[in-house]
Amino acid sequence: MTFSRRDFVKTSVLGAVATGVGAHAQNQDDRDGKENPKQNAATQKHDEQSGPHKRPIIVCANNGFNYLEDAFAFLKNGGDTLDAALRVVKGPEDDPNDDTVGLGGIPNEEGVVELDACCMHGPTRRAGSVGGVRNIKNVSLVSKAVMQHTGHVMLVGEGAERFAVAMGFPRENLLTEHSRKIWLLWKEFHSTDDWWGPGLADPHWQPPASDEKPQSEVWQHRIQNLQARAAGLGIAPEHQLAAVRKVLFPPTGTIHCSALNDKGEISGCTTTSGLAFKLPGRCGDSPIIGAGCYTDQDVGSAGATGSGEENIKVAGAHTIVENMRHGMSPHEAGMDALKRIVRNYNSDMNKVRFIDMIYYVLRKDGAYAGVSLWEGYSKGHPHKIAIHDGNRRAEICMSLFKGYSQAFPPFPDIPEDLKNNSEYLK
Ligand code: GLY
Repeated sequence: MTFSRRDFVKTSVLGAVATGVGAHAQNQDDRDGKENPKQNAATQKHDEQSGPHKRPIIVCANNGFNYLEDAFAFLKNGGDTLDAALRVVKGPEDDPNDDTVGLGGIPNEEGVVELDACCMHGPTRRAGSVGGVRNIKNVSLVSKAVMQHTGHVMLVGEGAERFAVAMGFPRENLLTEHSRKIWLLWKEFHSTDDWWGPGLADPHWQPPASDEKPQSEVWQHRIQNLQARAAGLGIAPEHQLAAVRKVLFPPTGTIHCSALNDKGEISGCTTTSGLAFKLPGRCGDSPIIGAGCYTDQDVGSAGATGSGEENIKVAGAHTIVENMRHGMSPHEAGMDALKRIVRNYNSDMNKVRFIDMIYYVLRKDGAYAGVSLWEGYSKGHPHKIAIHDGNRRAEICMSLFKGYSQAFPPFPDIPEDLKNNSEYLK
């Protein structure tokens, strides 16, 4: 694998442009902090929509796409809205190949998978939540059990796990070989600073790259070194670069789903393994009622995937639902929450470019929107919202800014041939 200096420079140069929320940054090719012009057109289109929107309807993050058919049939046949949403998110929780949720989630810094989830049932105005749960795969269902079988709203850690076992959820090892190897690679990445990875006596040991070298060369060396280590750990060639990417830029993948039936009942849920390699005990936004998910039977439902810490600070899902209560369209409501994140950094694009956030918004009348801070994590991979209202589809989210969020620290472009050959990079 080779990376040109140009590729590196392209991904690491900063830009400056007014953001539309008052900021100035420096000019840059595809991460310029310009407000996305399509956004205004979409606002207008969404706002002009009048009359009845389609019900029933389910919206979710795009990793729920494959599970929408079954959940929609269930909802259409009179199934409960929360149970329909839970059917969707259970799919990725059970899937060992989705390494951002449930079984196979990328673990914390100690190699232990810790899961977060919450749910809200609109018709009965109840909520349940669990945080930092180990050894239990379907934490979304555990959050529902907290809602149904306790007088509490949130259980965390060991108590949540013991509660789940008492409720009949099986304990199982959630760390798949795939995720364990990515974690080991992450440990080895720090091996110039600690005792993990090959030591001085290893014939292939190399001294850390000199600080005097240009940053691009340091990075190229680091990435090549990591890829060689990935091979040494037995990670298949087509998955090596994706593993390196996850080590360098820990993902926060998650799934949210909201479901609305033909009677206007609405519910939502969110589940995740959280930020990869997090500190043990870290809870992101997903189990926080009002951040990762919020549903109000009178108004609608919203949920989030992306930078959990940022979303907690703006109580994103609750903000969106309140915005809709005060008359904003789903699209406007989501965009306003995104702008609050930007304001928390005084619109400093040098910082905002390292954040991403995607909101999935469903109003009680069936109007919906998928909005994101940036167009996607990388070119050709836009953020999407999946929808089923009788017609299952995925739509590209409208982004506040043109361009792509930047992984931290900057990562060279992935060669096209590797992208095409790896399911993990698609
Ligand atoms: N949004 C998922 C997390 O930050 O944990």
